[in-house]
Amino acid sequence: MANYNGYIGRTKRLFPSFLKYAGVILITILFCHHYYSNRQVTVTYSASRNASNTFPRHWKSLLQYPSTLKLVFIDEPSLNCLIGTVPIEAEQGCQQLYSAHTTRVGTYLSIEEFQKLFYEKIVKGQDGGKKTDKWSTNATIPEQNPDTTIIQYWYHENFEKSIIVSTLKKNDNLNYYKLRGARQLQSHAIRHFDDSKISLASLLDDGQCENDCNAFVPMQIKRHMAYLKAGSLMECNRETALKIPKDATWRLPNVTVPITTHLLDQYIEAGQIPFMCHGTILGWYRDCNIIPHTHDFDFCIHAHQFIPDFHKQFAKDPLHPVWRSIGRREYGFELTFYLNHGIKDHEQAKLDIFYVYEHNSTHLWTPLLMNFQKGTRVQDFLPIVDKLCTADLRGQLFLAPCNVREYLNVRYGSTWEVLNKNAGYFEKGVEYVYDGNWETDISEVLEYF
Ligand SMILES: *[C@@H]1O[C@H](CO)[C@@H](O)[C@H](O)[C@H]1NC(C)=O
Ligand SMILES: *[C@@H]1O[C@H](CO)[C@@H](O)[C@H](O)[C@H]1NC(C)=O
Ligand SMILES: *[C@@H]1O[C@H](CO)[C@@H](O)[C@H](O)[C@H]1NC(C)=O
Ligand SMILES: *[C@@H]1O[C@H](CO)[C@@H](O)[C@H](O)[C@H]1NC(C)=O
Repeated sequence: MANYNGYIGRTKRLFPSFLKYAGVILITILFCHHYYSNRQVTVTYSASRNASNTFPRHWKSLLQYPSTLKLVFIDEPSLNCLIGTVPIEAEQGCQQLYSAHTTRVGTYLSIEEFQKLFYEKIVKGQDGGKKTDKWSTNATIPEQNPDTTIIQYWYHENFEKSIIVSTLKKNDNLNYYKLRGARQLQSHAIRHFDDSKISLASLLDDGQCENDCNAFVPMQIKRHMAYLKAGSLMECNRETALKIPKDATWRLPNVTVPITTHLLDQYIEAGQIPFMCHGTILGWYRDCNIIPHTHDFDFCIHAHQFIPDFHKQFAKDPLHPVWRSIGRREYGFELTFYLNHGIKDHEQAKLDIFYVYEHNSTHLWTPLLMNFQKGTRVQDFLPIVDKLCTADLRGQLFLAPCNVREYLNVRYGSTWEVLNKNAGYFEKGVEYVYDGNWETDISEVLEYF
């Protein structure tokens, strides 16, 4: 929310001594990230079932050359089929590779390199006979600097399947890849990941696989799947974003964005899926940025995903310590974290996580403690958020409600498009209702760490 100062400004900062270490720690994290991104670990996943008949012919044909083609398993069906631990999900992942017209695989090669090697290894040696399957290559997209090619496989029984090959070339200004869709397969944005090698030997008949038979799979598999489950990468409103004054200065420094990512990743890995809400999504959509005058980020998590005490592991975290919690898991739980940016003489940055509770068939609510002495509560309403999409905030990928305009209309009324420099605690037009008081000693529902 825009500004807490009126309410909690009198509370002293915590952990000041961490500030001077934050820079060092951040550098360490960036270094470690670099180190981990470049290492390769071979993980042995044991197939829990007879894997030899799980992949369809067109996949098996490609999977004979996993190292030459530098193949990376990145899509849900193929990952479920390969390493799914829930039997029914694994079976259905495999079945989807059979039944879908188009499926997807990643490669660390460029599209030009992939096409050349694919031709040499597979297409060139194809039997010209009538009764044999055949590969053909399709156009690459886009024409300049292609990142995608579609390869097509004719089954001699006379039907066709396609595989979208997406090149995984990192753009250092972003923490994600954009994957192009085709046919029934939608476009996706997925986070960069560390990888591990996986041996495909047990999937393929003896001697069919070249070299070490290793392909790659993402290590942060839960996070990866969470982003795959989300809808497409949304665009912010470039028109309203032009209205930000040219001389605007931001209270939240850039480095708070990767610190936010670092914290939220741990929530995602645990199955608590945070999405941008309140002022953060207003800023993302309206300004294509953080709102200049805001000094905190707002994220929401569906309350049914709440894990008791999960936040307590961050009590002494040097980068993003949890500062306090309000409420109960049953009702009105919210958290505030500090984001230790390590910039001298710059004000504290914070991040709020609001748990989202069900209100009625059309609306959800998030809590807010309005008056700390009296324990006065209010509820903010949001529309039902049942589908998450992805959104880029300063080069970092986050999840956000797909129904973003509906969200903003409900949350901020129709005036949300107007940048309000003087906004304090409440952005203009915000809808909330009083929700009584905590009828207990406030210290029972308010915890500082
Ligand atoms: C796997 O299935 C194939 C064909 O259905 C069979 O020949 C083979 O013995 C099976 N292997 C195992 C380990 O069950
Ligand atoms: C390439 O693939 C697309 C999508 O599957 C299809 O519409 C198009 O006809 C194909 N082009 C060729 C030359 O096969
Ligand atoms: C749900 O609650 C909201 C907020 O109180 C209200 O505006 C809306 O009309 C309610 N919807 C239904 C179907 O009752
Ligand atoms: C923050 O990042 C933006 C781009 O996202 C850049 O234009 C700006 O110069 C950066 N600010 C600082 C102080 O580095």
